[in-house]
Amino acid sequence: MLATAFTELVGCDVPIQQAPMGPISPPELARAVARAGGVGTVSVTGMTADEIVGGFDGGPPDGAMAANFVTADIDPAAVEAAAQRFRILDFFWRDPEPRLVTLAHTGGALALWQVGSVAEAHRAVEAGADIIAVQGSEAGGHVRGRTALLPLLESVLDDVRVPVLAAGGIASARGVAAMLAAGAAGVRMGTRFIASAESGAHPEYVSALLAAGPEATQISDGFAECPLCATMPRARVLRSAVAAVDDLDTDVVGSTTMAGTSRSVPKRAGLPPHRGVRGYVEAMALYAGECVTAVNDVPTAGALVRELAANTRDLLDRSLPAMSTDLPVPQRGVPGVP
Ligand SMILES: Cc1cc2nc3c(=O)[nH]c(=O)nc-3n(C[C@H](O)[C@H](O)[C@H](O)COP(=O)(O)O)c2cc1C
Repeated sequence: MLATAFTELVGCDVPIQQAPMGPISPPELARAVARAGGVGTVSVTGMTADEIVGGFDGGPPDGAMAANFVTADIDPAAVEAAAQRFRILDFFWRDPEPRLVTLAHTGGALALWQVGSVAEAHRAVEAGADIIAVQGSEAGGHVRGRTALLPLLESVLDDVRVPVLAAGGIASARGVAAMLAAGAAGVRMGTRFIASAESGAHPEYVSALLAAGPEATQISDGFAECPLCATMPRARVLRSAVAAVDDLDTDVVGSTTMAGTSRSVPKRAGLPPHRGVRGYVEAMALYAGECVTAVNDVPTAGALVRELAANTRDLLDRSLPAMSTDLPVPQRGVPGVP
Protein backbone atom coordinates (compact mmCIF):
# COMPACT_ATOMS: atom_id res chain seq x y z
CA MET A 1 0.00 0.00 0.00
CA LEU A 2 1.30 3.46 -0.97
CA ALA A 3 -1.03 6.02 0.59
CA THR A 4 -1.25 9.45 -1.04
CA ALA A 5 -3.88 12.19 -1.29
CA PHE A 6 -5.03 10.46 -4.50
CA THR A 7 -5.49 6.99 -2.97
CA GLU A 8 -7.29 8.51 0.04
CA LEU A 9 -9.69 10.47 -2.14
CA VAL A 10 -10.41 7.65 -4.59
CA GLY A 11 -10.33 4.79 -2.10
CA CYS A 12 -7.67 2.65 -3.78
CA ASP A 13 -4.37 1.21 -2.53
CA VAL A 14 -1.85 2.08 -5.24
CA PRO A 15 -1.38 5.59 -6.72
CA ILE A 16 -1.22 4.33 -10.30
CA GLN A 17 -3.88 5.05 -12.91
CA GLN A 18 -3.81 2.94 -16.07
CA ALA A 19 -4.48 5.49 -18.81
CA PRO A 20 -7.44 5.17 -21.17
CA MET A 21 -6.27 3.98 -24.59
CA GLY A 22 -9.36 3.38 -26.72
CA PRO A 23 -9.51 -0.27 -27.89
CA ILE A 24 -6.09 -0.92 -26.32
CA SER A 25 -7.60 -0.60 -22.81
CA PRO A 26 -10.59 -3.00 -22.77
CA PRO A 27 -12.58 -3.65 -19.57
CA GLU A 28 -10.47 -6.78 -18.78
CA LEU A 29 -7.37 -4.59 -18.51
CA ALA A 30 -9.07 -1.95 -16.37
CA ARG A 31 -10.56 -4.56 -14.05
CA ALA A 32 -7.19 -6.29 -13.59
CA VAL A 33 -5.54 -2.97 -12.65
CA ALA A 34 -8.38 -2.10 -10.26
CA ARG A 35 -8.25 -5.53 -8.63
CA ALA A 36 -4.54 -5.02 -7.97
CA GLY A 37 -5.27 -1.75 -6.15
CA GLY A 38 -4.68 0.83 -8.91
CA VAL A 39 -7.24 2.71 -10.98
CA GLY A 40 -8.26 0.97 -14.21
CA THR A 41 -9.66 3.16 -16.99
CA VAL A 42 -11.87 2.34 -19.96
CA SER A 43 -12.69 4.58 -22.93
CA VAL A 44 -16.39 5.34 -23.32
CA THR A 45 -16.20 8.07 -25.96
CA GLY A 46 -18.95 7.61 -28.52
CA MET A 47 -20.93 5.14 -26.41
CA THR A 48 -24.58 5.86 -25.62
CA ALA A 49 -25.95 5.83 -22.07
CA ASP A 50 -27.51 2.38 -22.72
CA GLU A 51 -24.25 1.02 -24.07
CA ILE A 52 -22.41 2.27 -20.99
CA VAL A 53 -24.94 0.71 -18.63
CA GLY A 54 -25.05 -2.58 -20.60
CA GLY A 55 -21.41 -2.68 -21.64
CA PHE A 56 -19.84 -2.92 -18.20
CA ASP A 57 -22.11 -5.52 -16.69
CA GLY A 58 -19.45 -7.92 -15.49
CA GLY A 59 -20.57 -7.39 -11.89
CA PRO A 60 -19.49 -4.61 -9.58
CA PRO A 61 -15.86 -3.64 -10.10
CA ASP A 62 -13.47 -5.03 -7.50
CA GLY A 63 -11.78 -1.68 -7.13
CA ALA A 64 -11.64 1.83 -8.52
CA MET A 65 -12.43 2.28 -12.20
CA ALA A 66 -12.54 5.39 -14.38
CA ALA A 67 -14.37 6.13 -17.65
CA ASN A 68 -12.73 8.43 -20.19
CA PHE A 69 -14.40 10.94 -22.51
CA VAL A 70 -12.58 12.83 -25.28
CA THR A 71 -13.64 15.07 -28.22
CA ALA A 72 -16.04 17.99 -28.30
CA ASP A 73 -19.44 16.32 -28.61
CA ILE A 74 -20.01 14.60 -25.29
CA ASP A 75 -23.54 13.31 -24.73
CA PRO A 76 -24.73 14.48 -21.26
CA ALA A 77 -26.85 11.32 -20.87
CA ALA A 78 -23.74 9.18 -21.40
CA VAL A 79 -21.90 11.21 -18.75
CA GLU A 80 -24.78 10.73 -16.30
CA ALA A 81 -24.83 6.98 -16.94
CA ALA A 82 -21.06 6.70 -16.51
CA ALA A 83 -21.13 8.75 -13.29
CA GLN A 84 -23.41 6.18 -11.68
CA ARG A 85 -21.21 3.27 -12.70
CA PHE A 86 -17.62 4.54 -12.29
CA ARG A 87 -15.68 6.04 -9.38
CA ILE A 88 -14.01 8.61 -11.66
CA LEU A 89 -15.03 10.37 -14.86
CA ASP A 90 -11.91 11.19 -16.81
CA PHE A 91 -11.78 14.01 -19.37
CA PHE A 92 -9.12 14.97 -21.89
CA TRP A 93 -8.53 17.12 -24.93
CA ARG A 94 -11.43 19.53 -24.55
CA ASP A 95 -11.43 22.71 -22.49
CA PRO A 96 -12.42 22.09 -18.85
CA GLU A 97 -16.16 22.53 -18.46
CA PRO A 98 -18.05 23.03 -15.15
CA ARG A 99 -21.17 21.44 -16.70
CA LEU A 100 -19.41 18.08 -17.15
CA VAL A 101 -17.88 18.21 -13.67
CA THR A 102 -21.32 18.88 -12.18
CA LEU A 103 -22.77 15.91 -14.07
CA ALA A 104 -20.01 13.71 -12.64
CA HIS A 105 -20.60 14.93 -9.10
CA THR A 106 -24.38 14.64 -9.35
CA GLY A 107 -24.00 11.00 -10.33
CA GLY A 108 -21.63 10.36 -7.41
CA ALA A 109 -18.32 10.24 -9.33
CA LEU A 110 -15.11 12.23 -9.00
CA ALA A 111 -14.00 14.35 -11.96
CA LEU A 112 -10.44 14.03 -13.29
CA TRP A 113 -9.11 16.33 -16.02
CA GLN A 114 -5.90 15.61 -17.90
CA VAL A 115 -4.20 18.87 -18.89
CA GLY A 116 -1.14 19.92 -20.86
CA SER A 117 -0.36 23.34 -19.39
CA VAL A 118 -0.47 25.36 -16.19
CA ALA A 119 -3.22 27.59 -17.61
CA GLU A 120 -5.32 24.56 -18.42
CA ALA A 121 -4.74 23.14 -14.92
CA HIS A 122 -6.12 26.41 -13.49
CA ARG A 123 -9.18 26.18 -15.72
CA ALA A 124 -9.78 22.57 -14.66
CA VAL A 125 -9.63 23.48 -10.97
CA GLU A 126 -11.94 26.46 -11.56
CA ALA A 127 -14.35 24.09 -13.34
CA GLY A 128 -14.43 22.00 -10.14
CA ALA A 129 -12.19 19.04 -11.06
CA ASP A 130 -11.27 16.90 -8.05
CA ILE A 131 -8.05 15.54 -9.58
CA ILE A 132 -5.69 16.87 -12.24
CA ALA A 133 -3.43 14.73 -14.41
CA VAL A 134 -0.59 16.75 -15.94
CA GLN A 135 0.58 15.32 -19.24
CA GLY A 136 4.19 16.02 -20.17
CA SER A 137 5.33 16.04 -23.77
CA GLU A 138 7.04 12.65 -23.21
CA ALA A 139 3.60 11.01 -23.28
CA GLY A 140 2.44 8.40 -25.74
CA GLY A 141 -0.69 9.09 -27.79
CA HIS A 142 -2.15 12.54 -28.32
CA VAL A 143 0.01 15.16 -26.67
CA ARG A 144 -1.83 18.20 -25.38
CA GLY A 145 1.02 20.45 -24.25
CA ARG A 146 4.56 21.43 -25.15
CA THR A 147 6.27 21.19 -21.76
CA ALA A 148 8.18 18.21 -20.37
CA LEU A 149 6.60 16.47 -17.39
CA LEU A 150 8.81 17.61 -14.49
CA PRO A 151 8.71 21.38 -15.14
CA LEU A 152 4.98 21.17 -15.82
CA LEU A 153 4.37 19.17 -12.64
CA GLU A 154 6.41 21.60 -10.56
CA SER A 155 4.54 24.64 -11.84
CA VAL A 156 1.15 23.02 -11.34
CA LEU A 157 2.02 21.77 -7.84
CA ASP A 158 3.00 25.30 -6.87
CA ASP A 159 -0.45 26.51 -7.83
CA VAL A 160 -3.19 23.94 -7.26
CA ARG A 161 -4.45 22.24 -4.11
CA VAL A 162 -6.15 19.13 -5.58
CA PRO A 163 -4.26 15.83 -6.00
CA VAL A 164 -2.09 15.90 -9.12
CA LEU A 165 -1.13 12.83 -11.16
CA ALA A 166 1.98 12.85 -13.34
CA ALA A 167 1.60 11.45 -16.88
CA GLY A 168 4.04 10.91 -19.70
CA GLY A 169 7.11 8.75 -20.03
CA ILE A 170 6.67 6.71 -16.84
CA ALA A 171 7.03 2.95 -17.18
CA SER A 172 9.07 1.83 -14.18
CA ALA A 173 9.17 2.01 -10.39
CA ARG A 174 12.00 4.54 -10.71
CA GLY A 175 9.65 6.85 -12.60
CA VAL A 176 6.81 6.35 -10.12
CA ALA A 177 9.10 6.95 -7.13
CA ALA A 178 10.59 10.06 -8.74
CA MET A 179 7.17 11.60 -9.34
CA LEU A 180 5.94 10.82 -5.82
CA ALA A 181 9.14 12.26 -4.37
CA ALA A 182 8.56 15.39 -6.46
CA GLY A 183 5.12 15.84 -4.91
CA ALA A 184 2.74 14.12 -7.33
CA ALA A 185 -0.12 12.25 -5.66
CA GLY A 186 0.21 9.46 -8.21
CA VAL A 187 1.00 8.62 -11.82
CA ARG A 188 -0.97 7.89 -14.97
CA MET A 189 0.66 5.30 -17.25
CA GLY A 190 -0.35 4.28 -20.75
CA THR A 191 2.52 2.84 -22.79
CA ARG A 192 3.64 0.40 -20.07
CA PHE A 193 0.15 -1.21 -20.00
CA ILE A 194 0.05 -1.74 -23.79
CA ALA A 195 2.49 -4.59 -23.15
CA SER A 196 0.38 -6.46 -20.60
CA ALA A 197 -1.50 -9.73 -20.90
CA GLU A 198 -4.96 -8.08 -20.80
CA SER A 199 -4.16 -5.23 -23.22
CA GLY A 200 -6.18 -5.05 -26.42
CA ALA A 201 -3.11 -4.28 -28.55
CA HIS A 202 -2.33 -6.23 -31.71
CA PRO A 203 0.62 -8.63 -31.07
CA GLU A 204 2.71 -6.86 -33.75
CA TYR A 205 2.19 -3.54 -31.93
CA VAL A 206 3.40 -5.12 -28.68
CA SER A 207 6.42 -6.64 -30.48
CA ALA A 208 7.30 -3.23 -31.93
CA LEU A 209 7.26 -1.71 -28.42
CA LEU A 210 9.45 -4.50 -27.02
CA ALA A 211 11.95 -3.99 -29.85
CA ALA A 212 12.06 -0.19 -29.56
CA GLY A 213 15.38 1.32 -28.46
CA PRO A 214 16.39 4.82 -27.34
CA GLU A 215 14.91 7.75 -29.31
CA ALA A 216 12.37 5.42 -30.90
CA THR A 217 9.46 7.88 -30.65
CA GLN A 218 8.54 11.27 -32.09
CA ILE A 219 5.65 13.71 -31.96
CA SER A 220 4.06 13.58 -35.38
CA ASP A 221 1.06 14.68 -37.40
CA GLY A 222 1.45 11.53 -39.49
CA PHE A 223 -1.76 9.92 -38.16
CA ALA A 224 -4.04 12.94 -38.26
CA GLU A 225 -7.16 11.17 -39.58
CA CYS A 226 -8.89 11.24 -36.18
CA PRO A 227 -11.27 13.50 -34.20
CA LEU A 228 -8.58 14.68 -31.75
CA CYS A 229 -6.11 15.56 -34.49
CA ALA A 230 -8.82 17.60 -36.18
CA THR A 231 -8.23 20.25 -33.51
CA MET A 232 -4.47 19.73 -33.02
CA PRO A 233 -2.50 17.05 -34.90
CA ARG A 234 0.10 16.12 -32.29
CA ALA A 235 0.62 12.54 -31.17
CA ARG A 236 3.70 10.66 -29.97
CA VAL A 237 4.20 7.46 -31.98
CA LEU A 238 6.98 5.06 -32.84
CA ARG A 239 9.28 6.66 -35.42
CA SER A 240 9.17 3.38 -37.35
CA ALA A 241 5.41 3.80 -37.90
CA VAL A 242 5.86 7.29 -39.37
CA ALA A 243 8.51 5.97 -41.77
CA ALA A 244 6.35 2.96 -42.69
CA VAL A 245 3.22 5.00 -43.43
CA ASP A 246 5.21 7.53 -45.47
CA ASP A 247 6.55 4.65 -47.60
CA LEU A 248 3.16 3.05 -48.16
CA ASP A 249 1.66 3.62 -51.59
CA THR A 250 -2.00 2.84 -50.82
CA ASP A 251 -5.03 4.67 -49.39
CA VAL A 252 -6.07 1.83 -47.12
CA VAL A 253 -3.77 0.17 -44.56
CA GLY A 254 -6.08 -2.62 -43.46
CA SER A 255 -9.40 -3.48 -41.86
CA THR A 256 -10.81 -3.45 -38.36
CA THR A 257 -13.50 -5.62 -36.85
CA MET A 258 -15.17 -4.41 -33.68
CA ALA A 259 -18.45 -5.66 -32.22
CA GLY A 260 -18.93 -7.86 -35.30
CA THR A 261 -18.71 -4.99 -37.82
CA SER A 262 -15.83 -4.75 -40.28
CA ARG A 263 -14.58 -1.58 -41.96
CA SER A 264 -11.43 -0.48 -43.71
CA VAL A 265 -8.69 1.50 -41.97
CA PRO A 266 -7.62 4.47 -44.09
CA LYS A 267 -3.96 5.41 -44.37
CA ARG A 268 -2.99 7.80 -41.52
CA ALA A 269 -5.99 6.85 -39.35
CA GLY A 270 -5.53 7.62 -35.65
CA LEU A 271 -6.79 4.17 -34.61
CA PRO A 272 -4.08 2.27 -32.69
CA PRO A 273 -3.95 -1.34 -33.92
CA HIS A 274 -5.99 -3.58 -31.62
CA ARG A 275 -6.41 -7.35 -31.84
CA GLY A 276 -9.27 -7.04 -34.34
CA VAL A 277 -7.13 -5.24 -36.94
CA ARG A 278 -5.67 -6.84 -40.10
CA GLY A 279 -3.24 -5.29 -42.57
CA TYR A 280 -0.05 -3.24 -42.42
CA VAL A 281 0.11 -3.00 -38.64
CA GLU A 282 3.60 -1.51 -38.79
CA ALA A 283 2.19 1.50 -40.71
CA MET A 284 -0.68 2.18 -38.25
CA ALA A 285 -0.77 4.60 -35.30
CA LEU A 286 1.73 2.88 -32.97
CA TYR A 287 1.35 5.36 -30.10
CA ALA A 288 4.17 5.14 -27.55
CA GLY A 289 5.71 7.36 -24.89
CA GLU A 290 9.40 8.10 -24.46
CA CYS A 291 9.48 5.45 -21.72
CA VAL A 292 9.14 2.71 -24.32
CA THR A 293 12.75 1.63 -23.70
CA ALA A 294 11.66 0.50 -20.22
CA VAL A 295 9.00 -1.82 -21.70
CA ASN A 296 10.72 -5.19 -21.95
CA ASP A 297 8.17 -7.82 -21.00
CA VAL A 298 4.46 -8.66 -21.10
CA PRO A 299 3.30 -9.37 -17.53
CA THR A 300 -0.29 -9.59 -16.38
CA ALA A 301 -1.58 -6.13 -15.45
CA GLY A 302 -2.12 -7.22 -11.85
CA ALA A 303 1.44 -8.47 -11.49
CA LEU A 304 2.69 -5.25 -13.09
CA VAL A 305 0.80 -3.02 -10.64
CA ARG A 306 1.90 -5.09 -7.64
CA GLU A 307 5.54 -5.11 -8.76
CA LEU A 308 5.54 -1.37 -9.47
CA ALA A 309 4.01 -0.67 -6.05
CA ALA A 310 6.47 -2.92 -4.18
CA ASN A 311 9.53 -1.60 -6.01
CA THR A 312 8.41 2.02 -5.62
CA ARG A 313 7.97 1.48 -1.88
CA ASP A 314 11.41 -0.10 -1.73
CA LEU A 315 13.06 2.72 -3.71
CA LEU A 316 11.47 5.42 -1.57
CA ASP A 317 12.37 3.63 1.67
CA ARG A 318 15.95 3.07 0.59
CA SER A 319 16.77 6.29 -1.23
CA LEU A 320 15.12 9.02 0.80
CA PRO A 321 16.55 8.16 4.25
CA ALA A 322 19.94 7.49 2.66
CA MET A 323 19.84 10.83 0.90
CA SER A 324 19.04 12.69 4.10
CA THR A 325 21.79 11.02 6.17
CA ASP A 326 24.53 10.25 3.67
CA LEU A 327 24.79 13.47 1.72
CA PRO A 328 28.45 14.47 1.55
CA VAL A 329 29.19 17.19 4.07
CA PRO A 330 30.80 20.20 2.34
CA GLN A 331 34.45 20.64 3.35
CA ARG A 332 36.15 24.00 3.76
CA GLY A 333 38.02 25.05 0.66
CA VAL A 334 35.81 23.11 -1.78
CA PRO A 335 35.31 25.32 -4.88
CA GLY A 336 31.85 26.86 -4.92
CA VAL A 337 31.11 26.08 -1.26
CA PRO A 338 31.26 29.15 0.99
C1 LIG B 1 -2.17 3.90 -27.24
C2 LIG B 1 -2.59 5.12 -26.47
C3 LIG B 1 -3.90 5.58 -26.58
C4 LIG B 1 -4.32 6.68 -25.83
N1 LIG B 1 -5.64 7.06 -25.88
C5 LIG B 1 -6.10 7.99 -25.02
C6 LIG B 1 -7.49 8.25 -24.92
O1 LIG B 1 -8.31 7.65 -25.62
N2 LIG B 1 -7.91 9.18 -24.00
C7 LIG B 1 -7.01 9.84 -23.19
O2 LIG B 1 -7.45 10.63 -22.36
N3 LIG B 1 -5.69 9.63 -23.29
C8 LIG B 1 -5.21 8.71 -24.17
N4 LIG B 1 -3.86 8.46 -24.22
C9 LIG B 1 -2.91 9.31 -23.43
C10 LIG B 1 -2.87 8.93 -21.95
O3 LIG B 1 -3.96 9.50 -21.28
C11 LIG B 1 -1.58 9.38 -21.23
O4 LIG B 1 -1.45 10.79 -21.29
C12 LIG B 1 -0.30 8.77 -21.75
O5 LIG B 1 -0.46 7.41 -22.03
C13 LIG B 1 0.83 8.95 -20.75
O6 LIG B 1 2.07 8.69 -21.34
P1 LIG B 1 2.77 7.25 -21.43
O7 LIG B 1 2.07 6.54 -22.54
O8 LIG B 1 4.19 7.58 -21.75
O9 LIG B 1 2.59 6.55 -20.13
C14 LIG B 1 -3.40 7.37 -24.98
C15 LIG B 1 -2.08 6.92 -24.91
C16 LIG B 1 -1.67 5.81 -25.62
C17 LIG B 1 -0.24 5.33 -25.47
